[in-house]
Amino acid sequence: MMSLKNEVLALLAEVSSENELEGLRNSYLGKKGRVNQLTKEISNLAKEEKPDAGRLLNELKKIIEEEFERRANSFGLEKEGEGRIDVTLAGEKPKMGHLHLVSVAMNEIDEIFKELGFTRTTYPEIEYDWYAFEGLNMPKDHPARDEWETFFIEAKENKRFGKVVLTPHTSNGQIREMERLGKPPIRMINMSKCYRRQSDVSHIQMFHQFEGLVVDKGISIVHLKGTIDYFVKRFFGEERRARIRPFHFQFTEPSFEVDLSCSVCNGKGCKLCKEGWLELGGAGMVHPNVLRAGKIDPNKYTGFAFGWGVERTYMMKEGLMVDDLRILYRNDLRFLNQF
Ligand code: DAH
Repeated sequence: MMSLKNEVLALLAEVSSENELEGLRNSYLGKKGRVNQLTKEISNLAKEEKPDAGRLLNELKKIIEEEFERRANSFGLEKEGEGRIDVTLAGEKPKMGHLHLVSVAMNEIDEIFKELGFTRTTYPEIEYDWYAFEGLNMPKDHPARDEWETFFIEAKENKRFGKVVLTPHTSNGQIREMERLGKPPIRMINMSKCYRRQSDVSHIQMFHQFEGLVVDKGISIVHLKGTIDYFVKRFFGEERRARIRPFHFQFTEPSFEVDLSCSVCNGKGCKLCKEGWLELGGAGMVHPNVLRAGKIDPNKYTGFAFGWGVERTYMMKEGLMVDDLRILYRNDLRFLNQF
């Protein structure tokens, strides 16, 4: 009896149309089909054999019926599949990406300085010590260098420009721009990636800075403050104010730290800012030694410079309280989709 099952399975696999299937069904499960024939044969068996043979045949019949059913369904499915595309249904929307919020911030910063006639530049991220430090009035072994926790590259030292580093700030662009133009006027906005050996909730090893440099005849602190004010109002909003307070950098004299009035208390002092002001970044009047390093005569020309972090500046604009700045670069769509 079991060989009958195998026979049926083999034939079913060969079937190629529904008609053929019906024919086959008839010859096995029909009135005069093989299964019924077997049922008749059972009546000829000895009495004690009948119950077992009957049960076996019933099981076989069930299996064969199921196999026919399965095969019939598969025809049904193939048919259904053919007519399945419903062109009137709304399509699945492809997921659209968008610019990363840091790119958005850089474009916006770029636009604002363009209005003031600045030229956007990018200079090497893999840089010589000389452009990142020495030319900026930080001789070898100067303790001021410690602040820029620098990555050094294992590369051959250049006789004139020294070791190779991952630039820890965009200030490396200052002398490169002086060299590129040969002489003032200079109005540069240099934006690029920077690297420092630091990683905690408020620092990332790779981040972005934008660096302003203006050199011309008669440039003074007034121009610096005017530029800062313009940027602050355009980027953060009319009601925000900027202030400069004395600080120290090797490459500027005098040097300042630039503060932004807090958006929450507007300068009065609150939990977010403590004393009404948030620190934006450094600025100052270009040090004569830096102008000299860029082959510009400090007796004829003066200049100002500033350098701020893109991520930090953008967070201050949005009033974002990000517990961990590193989330910006974790590629977590739950975070990025919000912008
Ligand atoms: N390069 C400095 C830093 O990364 C920031 C800076 C301060 C840039 C004063 C300037 C400047 O151009 O004048 O911390």
